[in-house]
Formats: sequence, structure tokens, C-alpha cells
Amino acid sequence: MEKKLSYQEVFNESIKNPESFWAKAAEEIHWVKKWDRVLDDTRAPFYRWFVGGELNTCYNALDRHVENGRGQQTAVIYDSPVTDTVKKFTYQEFLDLVSRFAGVLSSLGVKKGDTVIIYMPMIPQAMVAMLACARIGAVHSVVFGGFAPNELAIRIEDAKPKVVISASCGIEGKKIIPYKPMLDEAIKISSHKPEICIIYQRPQVQADLAENRDLDWDLLMEKAKPVSWVPVAATDPLYILYTSGTTGRPKGVVRDNGGHAVALNWSMRYIYDVRPGEVYWAASDVGWVVGHSYIVYGPLIYGCTTVLYEGKPVGTPDPGAFWRVISQHKVSVLFTAPTAFRAIKKEDPNGDYIKKYDLSSLKYLFLAGERLDPDTYYWATDMLKKPVIDHWWQTETGWPIAANCMGIEPLPIKAGSPTKPVPGYDVQILDNEGNPVPPGVEGAVVIKLPLPPGCLPTLWQDDKRFLEYVTERPGYYVTGDGGRFDEDGYLFIMGRIDDVINVAGHRLSTGAMEEIIAKHKDVAECAVLGAEDNLKGQVPVGFVVLKAGVERNPDEIVEELVQMVRNELGAIACFKQAAIVKALPKTRSGKILRGTMRKIVDGKDYTIPSTIDDPSTLNVIEEAAKSIGYGKK
Ligand code: COA
Ligand code: AMP
Repeated sequence: MEKKLSYQEVFNESIKNPESFWAKAAEEIHWVKKWDRVLDDTRAPFYRWFVGGELNTCYNALDRHVENGRGQQTAVIYDSPVTDTVKKFTYQEFLDLVSRFAGVLSSLGVKKGDTVIIYMPMIPQAMVAMLACARIGAVHSVVFGGFAPNELAIRIEDAKPKVVISASCGIEGKKIIPYKPMLDEAIKISSHKPEICIIYQRPQVQADLAENRDLDWDLLMEKAKPVSWVPVAATDPLYILYTSGTTGRPKGVVRDNGGHAVALNWSMRYIYDVRPGEVYWAASDVGWVVGHSYIVYGPLIYGCTTVLYEGKPVGTPDPGAFWRVISQHKVSVLFTAPTAFRAIKKEDPNGDYIKKYDLSSLKYLFLAGERLDPDTYYWATDMLKKPVIDHWWQTETGWPIAANCMGIEPLPIKAGSPTKPVPGYDVQILDNEGNPVPPGVEGAVVIKLPLPPGCLPTLWQDDKRFLEYVTERPGYYVTGDGGRFDEDGYLFIMGRIDDVINVAGHRLSTGAMEEIIAKHKDVAECAVLGAEDNLKGQVPVGFVVLKAGVERNPDEIVEELVQMVRNELGAIACFKQAAIVKALPKTRSGKILRGTMRKIVDGKDYTIPSTIDDPSTLNVIEEAAKSIGYGKK
């Protein structure tokens, strides 16, 4: 029998001997050609894993399982309460679909290294499109459906896709959202024009297809010839995923093929403690990193059955939706965001719906995407009577940085902490001068370089911007989060220390919202902050100074600003509240005191910063916060 190692032993080994540690993990992946070097540090801080190695991610996710006898196992369960559909695909069936769609892309001239944008709802075709790109070595970039045309346009302009793949509509609870008009608008705005758009027509909406550009998914698939996979370099990009930075320009996080496959495969076994054949469900969206790693690639590379759920935690049709899926499909592991549980708790505080279902298959609930507040942790634990595991990570890393690794050695849980760093991640806390701080003291959470396999090697065609992560504190990757270790080595993540906020587990940039608001003709300047919210964790709140002489009704202006953010960034921003103020609190050098404003909005005690130019501006913010329902009660 395999000797059980302690967490500490595995962790120490991963930090002391990273090359042998990850080379061993890489044995679980199929390689066309083995690597020449496990870790190439010759261009540090641009580290590369498995240099010289060749593989294909789609082969690892589908073909090899069919070849190894899993052809008749269910690969994907599409469960869509919004269309009243449950459809299962075996590994063999999914491979056939992906090979044919890869054939479609090849016949349209898509080649290794070309980029493809996928703007789709939670339907199997989204997964087929992703894996088909991987099969032929094309680089996909999935854009979340909740983004407005302008955001899609920014991504089209940056990724310069040859082809865009979309669907006629998404279904959000009871709302049907036509996608095609948004795609058309995005292409109109973008200076880069994709040659071809492939549209999957859903029965709920028939999209108009533009002659000479738009093609119908089904018609293409009818005539398609399946194609085989091509070997790609371990260091070739598999995908680009745009995420919010501190400005309006999103960051194109690059994921490579080799390190990604190795890390995800390892994480399924050692973090999530599942085995091939079990049902793994990440209730997220393919547009986010959680969807990429744990709806699509992780579970399939490892040989699990994955659930693609097109619904919400509540309202589709009731707060028992998650329990219904778990019992119907015998889910072993559920992964979602705390906000989903807060939504369920609000509608079913006593867990009456939970009692209606058999949840005996469920081993663990994993939560990530935002801080897991102790209230939600205790409620979920009491109701489910299963281990509730908080774990912390980011789009950039692609897989967890800190977790209670259930497949190594379950450690005692401390509410409010994602437990300890995952093997491979040398997490440290630094003060403002870059010095390590003792346990109990908060600081910037950083990871000592090199990052383990699977993490971003760079940003898409922007090495310079990537360097911002690794040059602020030389030798470390700066996560953007603040936090501390306790005396037992448990990590506590306290939230972002930059202008990124987390709304219902969705990462958004307050800077991007400020850029939109600043475009309004009556606005002189503004600040957008993340205010604490019982359901969504945080929601954005704006404080706006008008240009001198503007005498319009403030409510009307606020309504226009709300609409502008909705139109340009998307409904997902949840920007609904703003107050017009005479001035913003600033330092004498003109920097807006956002930290202090945030404390005022959240009704917390604060000290008046010694650098403040005009302390009376703080009273202005206190009054304004009160007027929109924030601040001290
Ligand atoms: N396409 C188009 N619009 C979308 C969308 C999509 N894929 N996803 C969300 N939206 C819209 C919503 O319809 C809503 O619009 P509205 O302002 O017109 O009502 C807006 O964006 C905000 O959406 P959301 O923040 O999801 O709020 P909600 O009230 O609809 O739902 C929760 C609240 C908690 C149920 C929901 O956020 C949820 O299920 N969260 C789970 C967390 C999650 O999946 N996180 C991903 C990372 S793990
Ligand atoms: P994203 O890139 O969208 O996955 O968002 C990453 C950010 O979400 C992190 O930098 C954190 O601020 C936050 N986050 C994710 N998981 C957790 C967690 N378990 N605890 C606290 N914050 C989290």
C-alpha cells in the first residue's frame, strides 16, 4: 500500500526539490516527447516548465481515456434547468464531437498558434470549441457572457482572433439574452475584424447571420470531417484568459500546455481527493478561470465525469437546485463560490431543501473566488455535515495557491483561513519595505519565484506588463492580496490591496469603472470603491464630483452613470449606487484616499491620515455614504 505522507513532508519536498517533484507528477501525463529540462530558469523571472517536451492537451483530456477503456464512461453531464435538459456524453461521444469541430476549424484555415475567441453560454458546444482549439494547437480565449460589447471588443482587439465562436443566446435564470447583437456590436467597435464567426443557433433565439462572415455551427458540423490532434510544445500557449487589473485594460493571462496539464492533474488527486470515474462539479462558468480549470480541463485530463450546469443556485427553480444536481448525478465534490451559498442561505435559512435530497455521494464542498466568511462556513458545515474547504487562488495561477489538501493529509480547519500553502507555492508575507513579517502581522501576500507549473508564464504579447507582478518585490510574485500567517502556519487572506474588487465571486476593476464614469460630460472626477455586501461579498459604490456649473438633477446623472457602466462593462459589474459629492478626500500630493473612504463606507473606525489635504472632505464622504445606505448605522 502507498505510504501516506504528511502535508509538511510533501510541501517541503516540493520547495526543496521542485524539479524532481514536478517531473514525477508529469509522469501521469501522456507526452509525445519528454522534456529536456523540467525547469528552465535561464530567462528568470520568465521561468518555463517542461522545456523541450511535446504533448496535446485534448489528447490527454479525451483520446487517451478512450484508448484506455473509458470510452463508455460519461465525460460530461450537461444539466440545464433553464432549458429543462439533462444530457450525458460519454468520452467517446465527446471525442467524436471535438474531433469533428476541430475538423471544422481546420477546414476554415485555423492553424496551430492562431487565436480563437469563444463567447458562449454554459452549453456543451462551449467545451467542444475549447477542446477543439486545443486539439489543433489553436489558442482559445473564452469571454464571459456577462460582459458588454465594449469589453468583448477590447478582447477581440488584443487577441486578434481569426475566428469567433458564439451562440444565438444565453439564458440567465428567466431572462433570455441574445448574444449575436452584442457580438456584432463588439466587432463594429473593434479595429480587428475576425474573418469568420461560427454561431450555434439555440432554439430560444434565431440569430441573423451576416453573409460572407457568419456560419451556422450545425451546418458546418453536418459536413465536418474529424481530425486528429497535433503535438504542441509544452511551452506553447493553450489559452488566454483576460482578467481585471487595476485599469480599464484587462490582462491577458497566458496558460501553457505542459505545466497546466501536469498541475491540474496533480490537483485533482491531491487537493480535491477524487479518483478517475467520480463525478466532479464546479458550479461556475466556462468564462472564468474556475470553469477553465475545473469544469473543462482538470476533471477531463484526470478522467472524471464533469458537470456543466446552466443554472443558478437559487431560482432555477428553487434553493434546492444544487442538492438536486448532487443527488441526481451522484456528485463527489462540489466546488463553487461562497456567494452562491449566501444566496441559498438567504432563501432557505433552515436548510429545508437540503433535507429533501440524498447527498450521501458528496465528500467535500470546496469554496473559492472570494473570502469565505465564517458565518457562511459554519452554515454550510452545519447544513451539509461534510468538510467545507476554503481554498485561495487567482486567474493568474490557474489552480489553488492555498488549500486544505484533502488527498494528502486533511488538516484541522480554521474558519476564515484557506489553511496552508499548496505544495509548489512558497507563500510569504512582506511589509511595505519588502521585509518578511512575523506570524500574526498582516502584509502583502507574495509567492517566492519560481511559481509552480500551470501558473502564468507571461501576459499575452505583453512581457513588460507581466514584469509588474515580479519586479515590485524582486524574487517574488506579488499576488495583490493582503493577509497574514498565524502561529500554526495557517494563511488568512484579507482581500485585495489594489483596485480590484470581488463581486459575487467575479473579479472586477474599480479603475475600469472609474474610467467609464469619467467619460460622462458632467463628471470632473470620481472614485469607485468596493463596499461590503451581505450577499455578493462586495459591490461597487461611486463617489462623483461634478464639473463646476453643472446644475442638473443629481439622481438623473447617477442613473446615467449606472447605465454607462452597465452598457460598457456589463450587468455583471453590479454598479448600482453612486453619490454626488463636492470633493474627494485626497493627500496633499493629490492621491485619492480610497482606503479611508472604504472604511467610511463600511462603517468602520478610521484615523484621519496625516497626509490629508482637507479633513472636512471626510465628513462629506460620511454624509454621502449615509445618503445611499452605507456608513455607520
Ligand atoms: N450573461 C449575461 N448576463 C449575465 C451573466 C451571463 N453569463 N451572468 C450574470 N449576468 C447578469 C445577471 O443577469 C445580472 O443582471 P441584472 O443586473 O440585470 O439582474 C447581473 O449580470 C449580475 O449578475 P450576478 O452577480 O450573477 O447576480 P444575480 O443576482 O443574477 O445572482 C448569485 C446572484 C449569487 C446567485 C450569482 O452571482 C451566483 O450564482 N454566483 C455564483 C458564483 C460564481 O459562479 N462565481 C464564479 C467564480 S467561482
Ligand atoms: P480571480 O482571478 O477572479 O480568481 O480572483 C482572484 C482573487 O479572488 C484573489 O486575488 C482574491 O482576492 C480573491 N479570492 C479568491 N479565492 C479566495 C479565498 N478563498 N479567500 C479570499 N479571497 C479569495
